Amino acid sequence: MSGLFETFGRRALFTLDAEQAHGLSIAALKSGLLSCGSSDPALAVTVAGLSFPNPLGIAAGYDKNAEVPDELMKLGFGFAEVGTLTPLPQTGNPRPRIFRLIEDRAVINRLGFNNEGHEAAFQRLVRRAGKSGIVGVNIGANKDSADRIADYVAGIRRFYSLASYFTANISSPNTPGLRDLQARESLGLLLSQVLKARDDAAAKSGVVRPVFLKIAPDLTEEGLDDIAAIALAHPLDGLIISNTTLSRTGLRGTKNTGEAGGLSGAPLFERSTIVLAKMRQKVGPALPIIGVGGIDSADTALAKIKAGADLIQLYTGLVYRGPGLPGEIVKGLSQLVKREGVKNIRELRDRDMERWAAKAIPL
Ligand SMILES: Cc1cc2nc3c(=O)[nH]c(=O)nc-3n(C[C@H](O)[C@H](O)[C@H](O)COP(=O)(O)O)c2cc1C
Repeated sequence: MSGLFETFGRRALFTLDAEQAHGLSIAALKSGLLSCGSSDPALAVTVAGLSFPNPLGIAAGYDKNAEVPDELMKLGFGFAEVGTLTPLPQTGNPRPRIFRLIEDRAVINRLGFNNEGHEAAFQRLVRRAGKSGIVGVNIGANKDSADRIADYVAGIRRFYSLASYFTANISSPNTPGLRDLQARESLGLLLSQVLKARDDAAAKSGVVRPVFLKIAPDLTEEGLDDIAAIALAHPLDGLIISNTTLSRTGLRGTKNTGEAGGLSGAPLFERSTIVLAKMRQKVGPALPIIGVGGIDSADTALAKIKAGADLIQLYTGLVYRGPGLPGEIVKGLSQLVKREGVKNIRELRDRDMERWAAKAIPL
């Protein structure tokens, strides 16, 4: 399907504005026409107490309003992350605000958490309650919120009965000041309150939902040390590494490279994988890490796992390779695992961690 998409579908979609093309892809998924099913026990992994049929998920931002999580899993994804959702609906930044960098197989976006808010997504998730499939809810804060941490706490409370896991997204570059929550003191405060909300809800319901923290790739070694220390000092269930980058280092093309926003896709692969491996080295083997950034093939997916990831996610790869990509990656991973001679993909984690961690984070 990827080949067909690249020849015909992509050309048609790329004549549209990037945001219109995205809307069309959601509509195609809703139509239920696209599907690809396969399960290989060698790819099944248990992370943070959840059993994933395969380690590849759709990253946050594609299905912001929880419209198509089940359809995405039908494409081959082992799990879906919806959001980022903020308590109140918000329109985000003025359009255009998503830009293709075609020569670099990259995207710059400055959406600014456009989403329909907790209530609309909650109603959609209620309608799928009881279905199988791991659906994580990515939570954030409204742009003009008076108390940002309270917005994250509200997300935990609102979605506790419906989310398989939560992601606290403190790393979008498009909400001014949001990334400041990654600083040592603010992060300690955020995690204490978010994890207390989780623990309260767990005590009431008898179910403990994992909470992951999604971080930026634009951190210094010292910034990573601080996050590792705070993460380990709290009952956090894992890290998602990484969100988009503000760096423009290494871009080959010229069109749209000057746009403001977060860069994703192929040029993010190296940076996000280095940060992932460094973080794996700092937090040790026990803390789950989800690797994201520039995955567009089975090889890049496996590289993230070998650098230290338990699970992986992608978004921009879908823009360039189309809806056949998750199925292609899952199939490719099965073959690679066989070739490596291991029983389960988990055995390949960390194999190249030291090599990746030794590299400097690009400027
Ligand atoms: C258009 C667009 C919107 C995004 N929106 C969100 C979001 O709402 N929340 C979030 O945590 N990450 C968001 N992301 C970041 C992705 O989840 C992912 O971390 C990043 O794009 C790197 O992965 P990729 O190179 O596979 O795209 C968005 C990315 C793109 C391209």
